[in-house]
Amino acid sequence: MSIRIYNEGQINYIRKAGEILYKTFEMLKNNILEGVRTKELDRITEEFVRENNGITPCKGYRGYPANICASINEELIHGIPGNKKLNNGDIISIDIVVSYKGYLADAARSFIVGSTNEKNKKLLEVVEKSFFEGIKYAREGLYVGDISKNIQQYVEQNGFSIIKEFAGHGVGRRMHEEPEIPNFFTGNKGARLKAGMVLAIEPMIAIGRPNVRVMSDGWTIVMADRKYAAHYENTIVIKSNGEPEVVTLMQR
Ligand code: MF3
Ligand code: CO
Repeated sequence: MSIRIYNEGQINYIRKAGEILYKTFEMLKNNILEGVRTKELDRITEEFVRENNGITPCKGYRGYPANICASINEELIHGIPGNKKLNNGDIISIDIVVSYKGYLADAARSFIVGSTNEKNKKLLEVVEKSFFEGIKYAREGLYVGDISKNIQQYVEQNGFSIIKEFAGHGVGRRMHEEPEIPNFFTGNKGARLKAGMVLAIEPMIAIGRPNVRVMSDGWTIVMADRKYAAHYENTIVIKSNGEPEVVTLMQR
């Protein structure tokens, strides 16, 4: 078992998957509205990705029944889209994987429906910023643990808790590859980072206690104390110059 190193041609396919994913979120942003059902978000995502020559490999992954994960409020991740309608003040985390010619990119965003309270706004701001704190250390010669440690430090300094049961991961040919990338320092610095690695870094944080439960649908992960949680994820590539490139954000 080892961490895959991708060549420039393969990375270009991953970049293309990332571009489709980025555009998908731009499209979805305009559809995160009060009264919209999460299954509708699932349907328009599937259609949009297909029109852009990608596919949504979450569907059927270990029996997962939808194209996207849509997790509302106290739901952390893996919420199954359905008849539930969005309400003003909700926060919704959407997680999507896109495959382009067999190469995958993975990203998640948390959105506000309408307007919400200051605490929720702060939660969303901190989860997103913690990703960028983490990737300051995603460069050749540093370690997975450097990313983890800096995500944790930023989140905890801001008064939120880190969910420890779920982690980021390598991605590329498969949805989950080595290495595992925890959002906290495990006591082990982990693998050394190297050009050609492709990593999905995904902080998951909560307002209350970090304990989670699985709901009766067998998928949805919910906060045990039912306080709100958020998730933010991008796929990055360590380029040949040793620097990270985020492939699921607009490149400039
Ligand atoms: N995209 C998720 C991740 O970040 C995995 C989705 S689980 C699935 O790892 F079952 F929906 F595919
Ligand atoms: Co992921």
